[in-house]
Amino acid sequence: MAVQISPSILSADFARLADEAAAVAGAADWLHVDVMDNHFVPNLTLGLPIVEALLKATSLPLDCHLMIEQPERWAPQYAEAGAESVTIHAEAARAPVRTLRAIRSAGARAGLALNPATGVEPYEDLLPEIDMLLLMTVEPGFGGQRFLDIVLPKIRRARRLIGDRGVWLQVDGGVSAETIERCAEAGADVFVAGNAVYGADDPAQAVQNLRAQAER
Ligand code: DX5
Ligand code: ZN
Repeated sequence: MAVQISPSILSADFARLADEAAAVAGAADWLHVDVMDNHFVPNLTLGLPIVEALLKATSLPLDCHLMIEQPERWAPQYAEAGAESVTIHAEAARAPVRTLRAIRSAGARAGLALNPATGVEPYEDLLPEIDMLLLMTVEPGFGGQRFLDIVLPKIRRARRLIGDRGVWLQVDGGVSAETIERCAEAGADVFVAGNAVYGADDPAQAVQNLRAQAER
């Protein structure tokens, strides 16, 4: 499937979110929104009211990454609000099948995220329930961390397991001009980038550069 670039607003200026979304609107495919609850990860970011405000402020599809406990309580609400995709963490979900189905029936794409130390093989049977598999390439919680090369073999294994199912394979964490080619070569097709986009002088140009490198 064609390369998708999803800039993470975690690295944007939270006081100017509408402008920061507009800065990548012509270049990016999706906008990645990191929801953190200070329980699943040691950081607290934003929630449903800000996602609802962003949906009104941008035409970019919102790619909501829920790093929260009890995702079953919240995930369907993000889908109902109008998020394009809602991704829950396997490590946090007590009833992943029910939650993934609730996301889909509320009209969004369902995503399943795995931390760097979580194996992909135990989740093979869930592939028919998801539209996107997110492999974390840093420990979740913060932007600007170093890309973990140890995840590359898992990206390759995930690509093989997905086969011709039409499930997006997303990588998130430390994705930059230096690391994106390795991810693409391993089989990823959706790339989240926070610092590499919003840390650049020209975020739209940074998105274009990342895309060119992923497509090489
Ligand atoms: C980390 C978040 C990422 C983060 C990526 O827990 O899930 O989406 O924003 O930021 P960079 O690209 O700077 O690593
Ligand atoms: Zn994320």
